Amino acid sequence: MASGKVKTYKEHAFDHLKGLDGISDAQVEEHLKLYGGYVKNVNTLNQELTEMRGRGKPSGTNPEFAELMRRLGFEYNGMILHEYYFENLRKAAEPTPPSGSGIAQALNSAWGSLDKWKEDFQAVGDMRGIGWVILFQDPATERLTNHWITLHQDGVPAGFKPLLVMDGWEHAFMRDYKVTEKGKYIQAFFRNIDWSTVERRLREEAAVRPAVAA
Ligand SMILES: [Fe+2]
Repeated sequence: MASGKVKTYKEHAFDHLKGLDGISDAQVEEHLKLYGGYVKNVNTLNQELTEMRGRGKPSGTNPEFAELMRRLGFEYNGMILHEYYFENLRKAAEPTPPSGSGIAQALNSAWGSLDKWKEDFQAVGDMRGIGWVILFQDPATERLTNHWITLHQDGVPAGFKPLLVMDGWEHAFMRDYKVTEKGKYIQAFFRNIDWSTVERRLREEAAVRPAVAA
């Protein structure tokens, strides 16, 4: 793609997030603004790269080109992971998935019990550092595994489907909790999981998120 129309993204509205339990509307509002920044940055980066390619051959030894390319994964996944995260939250949520659901059965079969999986997922969340905790499914084997993603892009198993995504960056909870109270935020996250979304992601063959193309 040397030139041509630049594909852009729009922010998804996520207007279903008011009234969560233990994650305030103000926290969500601020977090959505931050998500909007990632959407904007993806669009800006793509625009800059298209213009640069339009001016001539892209070169790996051009520091400007290389820096933009290196930022692409960070900005893209900053947008993408927030879309998964906000989509798998809802108010008045059930604490656990229905016992007969596919996701309950899959978690039971992978960890022995729902509680064992939850303990493991929360332990990953307790890790120090900036990043995400994601329950993935490997589409090739249908195996479920928990992963720690540093920043937005380091540690993502290529092609795996995200089923449940938790933002573990401090900006996700610092309006509501102290920096030392990440555990309280993780507990709150678990009180707001939209299990029907997780179930749909398990059933869908492809990774589908509420992305908006402009
Ligand atoms: Fe975030």
